[in-house]
Amino acid sequence: MSTNQPTTADRDQVVIFDTTLRDGEQSPGASMTLEEKLQVAALLDEMGVDIIEAGFPIASNGDFEAVTEIAKVVKNAVVCGLARAGNADIDRAAEALKHAERRRIHTFIGTSPLHRQFQLQLDKDQVYERVVSSVTRARNYTDDVEWSPMDATRTEHDYLCRTVEAAIKCGATTINIPDTVGYTTPDEFEALIRMLIEKVPGAGDVVFSTHCHNDLGLAVANSLSGVAGGARQIECSINGLGERAGNAALEEVVMAIKTRGDAYPYYTKIDTTLLMRASKLVSAVSAFPVQYNKAIVGKNAFAHESGIHQDGVLKNAETYEIMKPEDVGVKSTSLVMGKHSGRHAFREKLLALGFELGDNAMEDAFRRFKDLADRKKHVFDEDIEALVEDEMSQAGEKVKLVALTVIAGTGTPPKAVVTLDVDGEHVTREETGDGPVDAMFKAIRAIVPHEANLQLYQVGAVTEDSDAQAEVSVRLEEGDKIVTGRGADTDTMIASARAYVSAVNKLVTRRAKTKPAAELRAV
Ligand code: KIV
Ligand code: ZN
Repeated sequence: MSTNQPTTADRDQVVIFDTTLRDGEQSPGASMTLEEKLQVAALLDEMGVDIIEAGFPIASNGDFEAVTEIAKVVKNAVVCGLARAGNADIDRAAEALKHAERRRIHTFIGTSPLHRQFQLQLDKDQVYERVVSSVTRARNYTDDVEWSPMDATRTEHDYLCRTVEAAIKCGATTINIPDTVGYTTPDEFEALIRMLIEKVPGAGDVVFSTHCHNDLGLAVANSLSGVAGGARQIECSINGLGERAGNAALEEVVMAIKTRGDAYPYYTKIDTTLLMRASKLVSAVSAFPVQYNKAIVGKNAFAHESGIHQDGVLKNAETYEIMKPEDVGVKSTSLVMGKHSGRHAFREKLLALGFELGDNAMEDAFRRFKDLADRKKHVFDEDIEALVEDEMSQAGEKVKLVALTVIAGTGTPPKAVVTLDVDGEHVTREETGDGPVDAMFKAIRAIVPHEANLQLYQVGAVTEDSDAQAEVSVRLEEGDKIVTGRGADTDTMIASARAYVSAVNKLVTRRAKTKPAAELRAV
């Protein structure tokens, strides 16, 4: 395999390593299809992310395929694949990355006493030997190798120094220090990175990196403190998606650096005007809603409700706004088009909102827009975004909603009649239930049998007013498979059915794929 230069930072640059497609996708229920992963990767690349961790190639055939395909299409970023400290993992990662213009293998092993004793059942010397053999093997494939001592923040300092030194000697070019369980604090983490850089021979020749989990809500603060301690790469994910409470949120890290140059005198290469689009895309494909008051990308992040605030903002936005909404890609809600708008205007609007659709997808979206404009008085940008995201998440699905009738009200048992297109054949079922949603989901289950439990059913409104579109998220769990689906429509029942059908489609696809073994999950 050819060699390529590792990404090293100048002292003022903080390299952004995005792990939405690896740590993020690993979070239960957030699994994405190949098509969705490719869309996310393309946007991360456009946004200026330096390194895209595209997946964990040995975890499943699906992960391998995703890393392979992403490696083929990413133009600017380094594409990275994760591997445990074993030959098979590293060989598989190298194979998946072979088409990348610039590739990185990220190999890791648990170094803390808990991980050594209980997870790996290896002693210190055995773990040390694996560090040496894994980094050495990865270096045979590429000269851009990242090594992580998993659970570093709970590892004895002298042993951590020893293993980091070994990884550097064997050719690792980035040393990532994971706070795997989100346990550290900002001061402690800064001191840890500083200590490693001061004590470990060769530390000056590599880039130190942070990988902070958010179990105590400190992931972003810890990452920035790591940079103060000398790290120059932050591992993060869009919307903070990741195992358990997630990873450091990319948008928060980037905007903190951009907004508070006095406190954080560094820069990143991220085009921040794409942050909102990335947040929406990741939320749509993972079906993880973004909380309204989430920093930077939440619906309320720039909304001023109280009279005093509104008055101040109207007089001078800086009275209550520390960032400009447009700097993160927030557009003011605008009335876009009505039922008389034509294809051309619709295509222009989609482009302005950042969607480029093929001819068929464009026709489908246009048909739905016309239908929406007939039913809804005002069509906003948000409506079009919800509609297109719904359309995108359902593209290529085997099972489609064709027709739905729901009867509910006082004095009548809730009933649903559902017609689905299953591989080209229309099938209709009628069911009663505890409520209209229950009846509808039962009818879908009767057509596409499955044992999944409904873990989450969430309804939100895309805009204000009672004619707003409903946006529904559904999460299903069947054995070790967790899938999510989303749907949008002015009719909450139709949106619910679309979301449920979308989740069922993912379940059917996941059944057909090799599942990642639980022990392959890396936190
Ligand atoms: O949290 C963690 O330790 C990880 C490693 C694989 C870097 O995700
Ligand atoms: Zn992690």
